[in-house]
Amino acid sequence: MVQLRDASTKSPESRPIPELSGGTPLIGHLLEFQRDPVAMLSRGRSQLGDLFQFRLGPRQFVLFGGPEAHDAFFSAPEDQLNAKSVYQFTVPIFGRGVAYDVAPEIMDEQLGFLYPALREAAMQQFARIMYEETSLFADSLEDEGAFDLPAAMNELTVKIASRSLIGQEVRDQVDSWFADAYHDLQKGINTLGFFLPRLPTPGHRSRDRARKQVAELFGGIMTERRRAGARPDDFMQSLMDASYADGRSLSDDEITGILLTVLFAGQHTSAVLATWTGLELARASSYVARVRDETQAVFGETGSMNLDGLKQHVTMQHAVRECERLHPPLIILIRKVLQPMRYGDYVIPAGTLAMVSPAMSHRLPHLFAEPDRFDPDRFSAPALEDKQHPYALIGFGGGKHRCMGKHFAEMQVQAIWTVLFDRFELSFETDFPAPNYGSWVTGPETPCQLHYKRRSQGRVFR
Ligand code: HEM
Repeated sequence: MVQLRDASTKSPESRPIPELSGGTPLIGHLLEFQRDPVAMLSRGRSQLGDLFQFRLGPRQFVLFGGPEAHDAFFSAPEDQLNAKSVYQFTVPIFGRGVAYDVAPEIMDEQLGFLYPALREAAMQQFARIMYEETSLFADSLEDEGAFDLPAAMNELTVKIASRSLIGQEVRDQVDSWFADAYHDLQKGINTLGFFLPRLPTPGHRSRDRARKQVAELFGGIMTERRRAGARPDDFMQSLMDASYADGRSLSDDEITGILLTVLFAGQHTSAVLATWTGLELARASSYVARVRDETQAVFGETGSMNLDGLKQHVTMQHAVRECERLHPPLIILIRKVLQPMRYGDYVIPAGTLAMVSPAMSHRLPHLFAEPDRFDPDRFSAPALEDKQHPYALIGFGGGKHRCMGKHFAEMQVQAIWTVLFDRFELSFETDFPAPNYGSWVTGPETPCQLHYKRRSQGRVFR
């Protein structure tokens, strides 16, 4: 394995980092990247290997491609490869004094408060919520028809996330105004916001107004909980009960900010992974037949969903993992190089942006056989393709910033499609949609309609 070392004066000589061909003097590779970033990065990886550089407008990037390079990227200390400088665009949404607005140690402490709310007992409760919300959605459909898949998954995951991750009181507001306010906040994540997050555009003004409304809602709920002495088992309560190492309790504004951080990190990404999973399964009828058999075997007796059953439902788990591989919602992850970093014979200079691309690396043919094919069995013995290297599959990141909601997200997507494929025949009549690279989280091009027909027999969940 290539070792990561500091680029100190004692380091051996370094070679120039290979440069991707085809850039133009003014904008570098910007147009090719906007058209199809994954094809561009794959071209670079196959021509130049683990490490290569390119320019997007004024910014110089270095791609770390393949599991060994991922290891170096994810293991680098924060003062060398820094996430905070890259995620500044989130500060107007999450708020001051939390997440990427504070020192990494404080962000770690803030996110650490949430781990108790993700323990096994809480996951049992989440499995029930996921099942109930999906059942409500299924019950709201006619016997036959079509629905807008990304919109449906967005709505469903907002309900699941607000109820499980924040609190029932917020879920109760989703059908009225909360979904709109959340949508205005989501629109704050755009290209302009990335470069000039505080520019007073109409979009940014709506974002700031929505942030204020959400803060008022969350603040009101916390006041009411304190007044009534209610202590539900959720993220909001974990934060209300927590205190920093120096003994200080969190302010309502900090709690709101941390809850928004988690909601943003977890909801849209989950909606997009759920969308891709539905699409892949809708064209894999023989695999769906196996999923349904397993649904019957695991849940048939009780007809209700629980965590233990989801853990036994391996065909669906592998389908979700295969969609994480083929369609990772975050196709690139970026850090700013604060101190020169050595990788093999190369030294990456400070000021560069370092990048890994789950979408590119997940299709490396030496790791994943026939990488463009949907084949969940690649994760079963004897293939176990994802086990070849700890950083072969990186759809949920790795190292100190790895996703804290991975199990929650996987379980959610699994629960949604276990219920929906049990209740409906699902298909689409168009070609399989291409990825829409215009958005920060990469879902399919829209419109993207899924046709459904209620199954008259074989239903497990009632
Ligand atoms: C399919 C759904 C999801 C995907 C694909 C996903 C993916 C990721 C990735 C790739 C990272 C690393 C980012 C980086 O290195 O720059 C990350 C971090 C994070 N995720 Fe997720 N995530 C998902 C769902 C969730 C959920 C449900 C939650 C909350 C329960 C969550 C909370 C977080 C948090 C708080 C971080 C930041 C951790 C840190 O920087 O220390 N994610 N996620």
